[in-house]
Amino acid sequence: MKTNCFFYRKKKYYIPPNGVVTRKSYSNIALIKYWGKQNNKIQIPLNSSISYSLGEVYTVTRLIYKEKKKSNLPIRIFFSGKEKTSFLPKILEFFHRISLYCSYLRNYNFTIETYNTFPHSSGIASSASSMSSLALCIMEIEKKLVSSLKEDFFLKKASFLARLGSGSACRSIYPGLVVWGCHQSIKRSNNLYAIPYPYDVHSIFTKIEDTILIVDDEPKKILSSKGHQLMNNHPYARDRLKCANKNMNKLISILKIGDFQEFGELIEHEALTLHAMIMTSRPYFLWMKPNTLNVIHTVWDFRKQSKKNIYFTLDAGANVHLLYPIQEKTFIIKWIYSDLFAYSKKIIESFCL
Ligand code: PMV
Repeated sequence: MKTNCFFYRKKKYYIPPNGVVTRKSYSNIALIKYWGKQNNKIQIPLNSSISYSLGEVYTVTRLIYKEKKKSNLPIRIFFSGKEKTSFLPKILEFFHRISLYCSYLRNYNFTIETYNTFPHSSGIASSASSMSSLALCIMEIEKKLVSSLKEDFFLKKASFLARLGSGSACRSIYPGLVVWGCHQSIKRSNNLYAIPYPYDVHSIFTKIEDTILIVDDEPKKILSSKGHQLMNNHPYARDRLKCANKNMNKLISILKIGDFQEFGELIEHEALTLHAMIMTSRPYFLWMKPNTLNVIHTVWDFRKQSKKNIYFTLDAGANVHLLYPIQEKTFIIKWIYSDLFAYSKKIIESFCL
């Protein structure tokens, strides 16, 4: 089912006067990057993307709902215990967008209490984990109203709602490899919500470490929402789209046969293509910092000498994700702390769920 109306919830239900729901949701790292949105549509991607959800890096959201008192502002947000009025415009827009599909939300005032296990807006997808945990909380409310709600629908709609908050958030609803966006080679893939990757995966790709080097923990100066916009009228947008589609086909066979070297080269190429897109936008930007490049070159040198399977990917920021099979962890993690620590403010030992 691939139409928005599948998710409408207009009928009148018993509305509990107040309550609290809590959900945790993980961040994710894209292997094939979502970059650019279709014109005049809400959060519909230009290309399909695939990510791993990540252990250790997550957001916990507690959503307190109370029967509406007319004069109140409908939403208050607390991040790590501090009220954050600066988050309000994005959250209000999100609630506005989803109210069509969750009409019961109009009955309440909300307090959102949330915290991350990692710095927000620093290139680790904080909007993915925060929007997906909020969407899961909202679905917990819907579950209280509709006792017959099935788990499969719960997750699909959570992904659909999360997408309306932040595109990549729709992939954080599921563990493992997750696909969002219509691709001719992936059955049931669609633009409205993410799906778990539906094909066989070689065992080497089921236990992958992701060590994240926080090169820069300041909030990003160019938000990804701005970057997506710059893909409209981007001189290389069409080629990027073709390349992302081809890369997805390549990845499907790589995942099946278990070729880690091909996998690594593909994800590094994707990461550098994403950065090339932002560097060649008008206006142009640069997310990498000198230490991003220091890490990349050191990884390349190490790989050449040691023949170890370690590859990087990047998000829309300066931080570096290092992906390698769990079997090689003992040797590689020691090397990361000895040779890359100097370039990082913090190292987060995560893994692909
Ligand atoms: O979900 P957004 O709008 O923050 O976009 C994120 C896009 C990338 O993180 C750069 C790539 C991806 O697919 O996650």
